[in-house]
Amino acid sequence: MPRLKIGAIGYGYWGPNLIRNFIELPETELYGVADLDQARLNTVQERYPQVQLFTKDYRGFFERGLDAVVVATPPHTHHRIVRECLENGLHVLVEKPLTLTSSDALDLVQTAERHGRVLMVGHTFEYNPAVRALKQMIDSGELGEIQYIDAVRVSLGLFNAHLNVIWDLAPHDISILLHLLGTMPESVAAQGTSCVQDGVEDVAYVTLRFPNNVLAHMRLSWLDPSKIRRITVVGSKKMVIYDDVENQEKIKVYDKGVTAIRHTDTFGEFNFAYHYGDIVSPYIRFEEPLRVECKHFVECILEHKRPLTDGYNGLRVVEILEAAQKSLRNGGGLHAYTPTVHRNGHHPLVFQPA
Ligand SMILES: NC(=O)c1ccc[n+]([C@@H]2O[C@H](COP(=O)([O-])OP(=O)(O)OC[C@H]3O[C@@H](n4cnc5c(N)ncnc54)[C@H](O)[C@@H]3O)[C@@H](O)[C@H]2O)c1
Repeated sequence: MPRLKIGAIGYGYWGPNLIRNFIELPETELYGVADLDQARLNTVQERYPQVQLFTKDYRGFFERGLDAVVVATPPHTHHRIVRECLENGLHVLVEKPLTLTSSDALDLVQTAERHGRVLMVGHTFEYNPAVRALKQMIDSGELGEIQYIDAVRVSLGLFNAHLNVIWDLAPHDISILLHLLGTMPESVAAQGTSCVQDGVEDVAYVTLRFPNNVLAHMRLSWLDPSKIRRITVVGSKKMVIYDDVENQEKIKVYDKGVTAIRHTDTFGEFNFAYHYGDIVSPYIRFEEPLRVECKHFVECILEHKRPLTDGYNGLRVVEILEAAQKSLRNGGGLHAYTPTVHRNGHHPLVFQPA
């Protein structure tokens, strides 16, 4: 069976990870790499001399019989590059965030539909076996009713001169939250501060309120002494900590909880029943999430399937980022909104995963 011919656009910090995967997958041939920077092209050419085309202009990929491109360029370039590639008949896997506005994201979704091409967004964590295990626990009811979720993504991170920490780091946690809860939030509120560069927030706190009174909070920072990638899910029966920095035991399930029991007829007087049980770290067979993501992209092209992180998934994440950005500019006020996908009738508010 002929292999899919892939072009990669952007060989900066993240592009090499995508390229390595498409070089290694048996179903794909990495045909070409495009980057504006000649030094980056020289580096990739030394590493993978078997690649046929190295170019500063990704348009050199058109008319070469390519099937797909993977785009890992800065976010402000995504809309233009992805649109042009879709219009030239290529399937596209693009890094997060899909775009910088929801109108651009919707435009890409519609362009992909018009041209019958796969549009997939690199929300890597939805392909992470630990996140999938956590979702299974939530969906099976093992944790009980979800009460709140706390997400922390901090380190002494790579600073970005233009986009703030919300646009850089929050796409991961937002995509995880939407995946776990299967619904859009009703409101978003964000506060942040710019410690290092004027006008570009490097620390932010974002609060989302989901239906059924589920509260979620994200702490995001490029300015923290320790690297933390942790999500705590508290349910009425059990609690879970997912620690992505942990090598072996990424998920720990705590059989702990507390229930308020009314003990008099007087309203408001309660006893609290605590329970403490086992702490269990289930075995999770780990596979590199980016490898799972790249394989899924290939499978969607070959089998004409809709990706788990399709254009609508990317659009939902961009809508929440936009809402957080508006709230940030309003000094942290609540930003309630109706998602575009709902307004335009493309997608129900409570969505089913692909
Ligand atoms: N999934 C993840 O965990 C993850 C991690 C890091 C970055 N990312 C995403 O990957 C994307 C790239 O981020 P990065 O950190 O690698 O950025 P980067 O600045 O390190 O690299 C971007 C590269 O794109 C090239 N480029 C820019 N415009 C181009 C154009 N028009 N044509 C061809 N090449 C062009 C630049 O020369 C550069 O080499 C972003 O969307 C970012 O959010 C994802």
